[in-house]
Amino acid sequence: MTPPGDDLDQIMAVMATAFDPAYGEAWNRRQVEDALVLSNCHYGLIAPHGGEPEPAEEAAGFFMSRTAFDEEELLLIAIAPQYRGRGLGQTLLARFAGAARQRGVTRLLLEMRRGNPAERLYRQAGFLPVGERPNYYRMTHGERIDAITFACAID
Ligand SMILES: CC(C)(COP(=O)(O)OP(=O)(O)OC[C@H]1O[C@@H](n2cnc3c(N)ncnc32)[C@H](O)[C@@H]1OP(=O)(O)O)[C@@H](O)C(=O)NCCC(=O)NCCS
Repeated sequence: MTPPGDDLDQIMAVMATAFDPAYGEAWNRRQVEDALVLSNCHYGLIAPHGGEPEPAEEAAGFFMSRTAFDEEELLLIAIAPQYRGRGLGQTLLARFAGAARQRGVTRLLLEMRRGNPAERLYRQAGFLPVGERPNYYRMTHGERIDAITFACAID
């Protein structure tokens, strides 16, 4: 799903502020473009009021996901810092699940570094841990952090 240039700009604007550089989790524009040209990759934007952004309206956050058979993996989800703590992350996660369901997906997956506070958001949405990859992520200063895989069945 190739995004229009404006949507790519919106994704990259949120990307620039949402991720702590210490974890090296943010993607660059090329990585986002390369993923989103694939027909099994999807994205969604959320406006500050919780709906879809109107043309020229600033996005507060985005998600990116990838479908494989009957599963869909959440690749990234982010809300710009100034819009956090008002339920937009929850709304966006629900939108991701709804879009995946419409694609015929029956299981959602995501991978998170151990200790990411986003775990609370995921658990509230019904995700449960199903696996671990020890020392999977390397922080920019070299420390290793486990990856935890979460899954959520949808019908
Ligand atoms: C994770 C993230 C998307 C949450 O966005 P948000 O809009 O603040 O989330 P919500 O307001 O919908 O919060 C949902 C719940 O999760 C909790 N939560 C979310 N992020 C939290 C954080 N950083 N610290 C503590 N609790 C957090 C909220 O307290 C809330 O729980 P509550 O209803 O019991 O209070 C946002 O913090 C973010 O962009 N983080 C940086 C990027 C990131 O790490 N993404 C995940 C890995 S790709």
